[in-house]
Amino acid sequence: MASRVLSIVGTRPNLVKMAPVIGELHNRAAFEHRLVHTGQHYDERMSQIFLDELGVGAPDHMLGVGSGTHATQTARVMERLEPIILDWRPDIVLVPGDVNSTLAAALTASKLGVAVGHVEAGLRSFDRSMPEEINRVLTDQLSALLFTHSPEARGHLLREGCADDAIHEVGNTMIDTLVAMRHLIDPATMAATHGVQQSDYLVVTLHRPALVDGPLLADAVARLAEVGRSLPVVFPVHPRTRAAIAALGEIESAEGLRLVDPLGYVDFLGLVAGAAGVLTDSGGIQEETTVLGIPCLTLRDNTERPITVDQGTNVLLGLDPRRITDAPSLIAHARGRHSILPVGWDGSAAGRIADVLEDAATGWRRLPE
Ligand code: UD1
Repeated sequence: MASRVLSIVGTRPNLVKMAPVIGELHNRAAFEHRLVHTGQHYDERMSQIFLDELGVGAPDHMLGVGSGTHATQTARVMERLEPIILDWRPDIVLVPGDVNSTLAAALTASKLGVAVGHVEAGLRSFDRSMPEEINRVLTDQLSALLFTHSPEARGHLLREGCADDAIHEVGNTMIDTLVAMRHLIDPATMAATHGVQQSDYLVVTLHRPALVDGPLLADAVARLAEVGRSLPVVFPVHPRTRAAIAALGEIESAEGLRLVDPLGYVDFLGLVAGAAGVLTDSGGIQEETTVLGIPCLTLRDNTERPITVDQGTNVLLGLDPRRITDAPSLIAHARGRHSILPVGWDGSAAGRIADVLEDAATGWRRLPE
């Protein structure tokens, strides 16, 4: 009997992490697979474009939870997911990453007695002011299978009481997607599209509440405009950030600062691959730049991805907009620094997850009809 696997996605990075896993599960006769999209991200450019480009196809269920407070978003996912689990009775529910949809799905499944598998387990920033850190810790506690992609994750999980034999060091599925799509990435065209010279511009993404929802944003945007005078800046703006910038009033795109709409996967990575460097507060981009060998400046006080600093191209700037002014010199300094690719960041992580799921399948008990 094929094992029933129910995967949950809600946000843009969830799709990048799960696309290769979904593809692998579809290709194996050992699995019946269904996909739930919670609708945490719902804009065309935050969701549909990724479903199409990454070959995920239409989800079996769209929960349409949309935006809201953390409690509202989490509760809506739980309420709308529970009947789907009760109806289809999956053997395991797979949840990626650290967003509200991840925790909500893990809670719903585990309370019904259905096993949870966490893709990207064991990452820790040790900063509980980040909603993602709470989501990570709790999701790991609820998961029977912990799929990790960074060596320090095992120690974090063991310290929190997770079982050693639940931990599977499978590697990085986000990098599977990068490896699979790399041949489509076209830096020269993307630089031309945005009116910049290849290797002579800065890509910026900022969306974390700590920066975007507080008093730091105005200074950050002013400093980006200042940097833009010597190093052109291309800033694909997350909807949350777009709204916060609009609320500031009078900030217009300055001469060297181009605020553009969010990009699709291939276009965004083309833009990154052609850049002199990247300034970000994203998690996944710290990993992608490490693989692409592009200097990454992370505008946060901490990172749950320290391997990108130790072995990769990432430099932690701190949550301090004044440091943005240093970007051109930091990037010049970082140029030529080589990354050592972490183990399992090789394009085959999803296959290893599917292998673990096949081995684990005999231990599952399906909910009664
Ligand atoms: C969420 C995740 C964050 C992840 C990010 C990736 C949580 C707690 N946060 O943050 O970890 O790095 O996704 O992008 O789960 N909005 C739209 N259209 C959309 C989605 C959002 O306009 O399609 C706007 C809404 O105003 C919304 C705001 O963005 O209120 C924030 O969206 P939300 O899903 O709450 O969090 P993100 O900032 O996207």
